[in-house]
Amino acid sequence: MNGEITFTIVKPSSISRNHLGPILTQITENGFKIIAIKMLHLSTYQASAFYSVHKGKFFFDDLIEYMTSGPVVVAMLEKDNAVDDFRKLIGATNPEKADNGTIRKLYGIDMQRNAVHGSDSDENALIECRFFFSDLEIFAD
Ligand code: CMP
Repeated sequence: MNGEITFTIVKPSSISRNHLGPILTQITENGFKIIAIKMLHLSTYQASAFYSVHKGKFFFDDLIEYMTSGPVVVAMLEKDNAVDDFRKLIGATNPEKADNGTIRKLYGIDMQRNAVHGSDSDENALIECRFFFSDLEIFAD
């Protein structure tokens, strides 16, 4: 499974602006298979735990407030070279600096409301999938 999975969050502003459908379509049309998916409204506790690596940074409190402001969709995705290919598909963290055609360029608003999250390494992809999904949901075969 190493190298073949990544994890994404479609963020609150993407859900409230009705971009979930186009974003999932772009993801699947680029060769990613959705292995597990669910919609949920994160609690402050859950968002703080998920983003604990950013605790203490100047944007942390705003990030948690935003990520708990409405429902999100979390998903485990499968593809060869999943982490790197997904990061290319979503583009730079700052939508203004993202390449044309990337998900963040198309649907992001600013650094905080940047449409989607994507894992930054194989190790974190598995950690993030296991944060939201049970083994029963992600280890089907
Ligand atoms: P994400 O991929 O979800 O990982 C951490 C998030 O923190 C990131 O996307 C941005 O939404 C947010 N973030 C990172 N850097 C900044 C910043 N300088 N200002 C505001 N938000 C940021």
